[in-house]
Amino acid sequence: MDANAAVLYEVNKPLVIEDVEVLEPGPHEVRVRWAANGVCHSDLHVMTGDYPHPLPVVLGHEAAGVVEKIGAGVESVKPGDHVCSSYIPSCGKCWYCIGGQPTMCALRDKPRWFMLDGTSRFRKNGQPLHHFLQVSGYATHSVLLEESVIPIRKDAPLDLACLVSCGVLAGAGPVFNRAKVPPGASVAVFGCGGVGLNTIQAARMVGAGKIIAVDVNPQKLTWAEEFGATHVVDASKEDPVARVQAIGGIGGVDFAFEVVGTQKTIEQALASTHRGGMCVIVGVSPAGTRLSIDPGMLLQQRVLTGSSFGAGHQRTDVPLLIDLFMAGKYQLKELVSRRLPLKELNHAFDLMKQGEVKRSVIVYE
Ligand code: APR
Ligand code: ZN
Ligand code: ZN
Repeated sequence: MDANAAVLYEVNKPLVIEDVEVLEPGPHEVRVRWAANGVCHSDLHVMTGDYPHPLPVVLGHEAAGVVEKIGAGVESVKPGDHVCSSYIPSCGKCWYCIGGQPTMCALRDKPRWFMLDGTSRFRKNGQPLHHFLQVSGYATHSVLLEESVIPIRKDAPLDLACLVSCGVLAGAGPVFNRAKVPPGASVAVFGCGGVGLNTIQAARMVGAGKIIAVDVNPQKLTWAEEFGATHVVDASKEDPVARVQAIGGIGGVDFAFEVVGTQKTIEQALASTHRGGMCVIVGVSPAGTRLSIDPGMLLQQRVLTGSSFGAGHQRTDVPLLIDLFMAGKYQLKELVSRRLPLKELNHAFDLMKQGEVKRSVIVYE
């Protein structure tokens, strides 16, 4: 069948919006008709070459839609089921999944731009196109591994549920699952974009005391306050480390989250914690990035760690966050600045680069 898709043929060139062929789902694969896909900075990293990826590729990894067709042997979903994409699959059988770390699933060891048999389900003029993180949500339809779809309740609006597939879980999960921030703790969040706003919101949910938002864009800081920031720091105007340390009060904060993806902001976030504090890396840094850290910082019992897709259990965390939203306990609507058709995806990335949106969502008819 044909799908309308956004294809990246060359870095630093616009995406080409065109019809492509989608092959039938193979064994243990499913075809999903997407309803919506959120516009995330990780896609932009591929478009700029910061995150090298085989081309051409159909990007998109923050999607929600309806299962249309299942391949042989698929048992966990059926046509008509509503699903979120899981840009990190979980097989439920490997050492990591059994051991309670399904975001580390062994399926990550295989190339994520193909299905498990090493081939693509997309074609253009007979030539294969690469998948992205085995999701490729910038297409009306795509084929995924059964392990890459998470069933969700049918009464949840798909154009908001899609946000949980990356930005919400990737941003909030580190607070709940990695740092396990207790009530009253002090928190700093470096980077208040579509992902970081969820880190702030999660910190508010768990009852953090001081929630310090750090960004270089004043508009983002205003939005950060709407999601729970108690203090804001404009890193383009003042040294964020000194300011966060001062607000923290005892030499720094209990927890710092880095949600930009640069050497500088990771080092700043770590330096903003007090002795014994924790810094969690959430942002994806360009390939080749290296840190320069005084080991004394870690001797002082600081913890430097990271979080992948929320560092929890994606198959239960995604539906749980959607339940919280449906119960009026998690803000999703407020995260969306723009809803755009696929043909305006290049414009959506321009808006992100210009810092003019919280999140844009691509919606399909
Ligand atoms: N200090 C603080 N904030 C900064 C800095 C800096 N030096 N530089 C940029 N920022 C802010 C931007 O102003 C923006 O608000 O970081 C934010 C990034 O937000 P988005 O562009 O919306 O990106 P997002 O989708 O949230 O992704 C953030 O997480 O998933 C990863 O790959 C993704 O690395 C990216 C990060
Ligand atoms: Zn993302
Ligand atoms: Zn696994």
